[in-house]
Amino acid sequence: MLFECNQKEADLFSGDLLVYFIRESKGKAVPCPSRIIRRALKPAWKSGDFRGKKGQSFLYYPSASAKGLAAGRVLAVGLGKTADQVDINALREQIRLAAGTAVQQAAGLQVRSMMAVLPDKTGLADAEVAECLSEGLLLGSYRFDKYKSSAEAEEEPTVIETFSLQVGGLDPEAVQEGMDRGRRAAEAACRARDMANEPGNGWPPVKFAEFARTLARRHKLSCDILEKEDMQKLGMGGILGVNQGSAQPPKLVILKYEGGKKTYPTLMLVGKGLTFDSGGISLKPGQGMEEMKYDMCGGAAVLCAMQAVAQERPEGINVVALVPATENLPSSMALKPGDIITHYGGKTSEIINTDAEGRLILADALAYGIATYAPDAVIDLATLTGAVIIGLGHHRTGLMATDDALAEQLLLAGDRAGEPLWRLPLGPEYSEQIKSQVADIKNTGGKGAGSITAGAYLQEFVGDTPWAHLDIAGTAWNFTEKSYIPKGPSGIAVRTLVDLVRRWPRKK
Ligand code: BES
Ligand code: MN
Ligand code: ZN
Repeated sequence: MLFECNQKEADLFSGDLLVYFIRESKGKAVPCPSRIIRRALKPAWKSGDFRGKKGQSFLYYPSASAKGLAAGRVLAVGLGKTADQVDINALREQIRLAAGTAVQQAAGLQVRSMMAVLPDKTGLADAEVAECLSEGLLLGSYRFDKYKSSAEAEEEPTVIETFSLQVGGLDPEAVQEGMDRGRRAAEAACRARDMANEPGNGWPPVKFAEFARTLARRHKLSCDILEKEDMQKLGMGGILGVNQGSAQPPKLVILKYEGGKKTYPTLMLVGKGLTFDSGGISLKPGQGMEEMKYDMCGGAAVLCAMQAVAQERPEGINVVALVPATENLPSSMALKPGDIITHYGGKTSEIINTDAEGRLILADALAYGIATYAPDAVIDLATLTGAVIIGLGHHRTGLMATDDALAEQLLLAGDRAGEPLWRLPLGPEYSEQIKSQVADIKNTGGKGAGSITAGAYLQEFVGDTPWAHLDIAGTAWNFTEKSYIPKGPSGIAVRTLVDLVRRWPRKK
């Protein structure tokens, strides 16, 4: 999609669809700067059919109903109540939702070129409106049809090829910058959706390595791939143990961005890259097992966030991303319940359930990453537990942290991105649940607090480094249905991470 800022008058736009965003109002007058649109909307407004409410839209063909517009179609989209909203993050979400509604409406029509008029009086800075508009548009028009044979693909709806934002008399440069910021974040999230949509046989561990290498080449990042032999030398018994049953070699993908000097603060991101989780010997039930191709969404989020970071090249911060990647399959070679493994750094762990594998691969990556890069803060992301869905449903990501400031930064970034988090506790009572009779720890903590005991397991490997863990099992797919969130993988946490890095305290 071609994205541009435009100062051309909306009336003169001769493309397929002209979009106006209209805020909700009880007043007599349609709150729109264009007299032509006010007049055209009048009957729908008067009757109460279109009042600018959230989710509402009104389509018409101007040649028939109003003169003076060159566009093929006009779409008015409701923003909801913006005037009395004081919560900036709620306003940002309204814009994304309205943009999502616009592309949903356009999807059924023959729309190739689209222009939207930047709404005014939203309570947000114009650049921020532009940012959220691009996010909603791109995220809302996402499609994955790679595996549809061409006959079926031909029936797919028309795709929008050019999008321009009409900024009127405003500063086009500032607005363009906002637009581009939104675009980079949304494209990264869509890339993460693509990875997740790939089936297990389309996205084995080596694909993470290939993606990271390509990113590194394109954007001058440094990339290291630890192979199975490296892991053996380093004693990464967690990744190796989980990988034992699989014919696909494991990878530990490391991607580094340096924003100036090595001594600048370093943020470390770790993502679970389990490309298919059958449960292993503790096999999962067959029903719904296909969804476990999504068990790599943490890894996807981390590497795709790096894509946006690499494009933006922030000064004064270093970011290092690690993705341990493997399948979890049963075989005569596979890890068994009762087995004891030794993690990187020497801690031993009794395997109670081979389906609690995410924590095993993350433990090695966390311990190795902290020992190697001495980061100032660590964030891991993982589709780690079914229990987080019981606790929070599909509406919030579970957050656990050893550092309050880091937790607050993440909560804020999540709210700004429309990807809310909810903090759960950690503590010695939970750590007690994973003590083992025969090893240092065990990989499950019994019935209660399944998400927290998984967090407690990871906590064993982070030492004193400020650390936060995001359990995205409920939000990585089937996330809260919204106009800009399709069914299937959501690309969750990519935009949260990008926002977090953008706002991270930098060295000057
Ligand atoms: N990848 C799963 C977690 C998961 C389950 C994500 C359902 C999304 C939907 C993870 O590896 C797993 O199997 N966890 C087990 C842990 C248990 C054995 C302690 C779980 O949640 O059942
Ligand atoms: Mn599992
Ligand atoms: Zn898993």
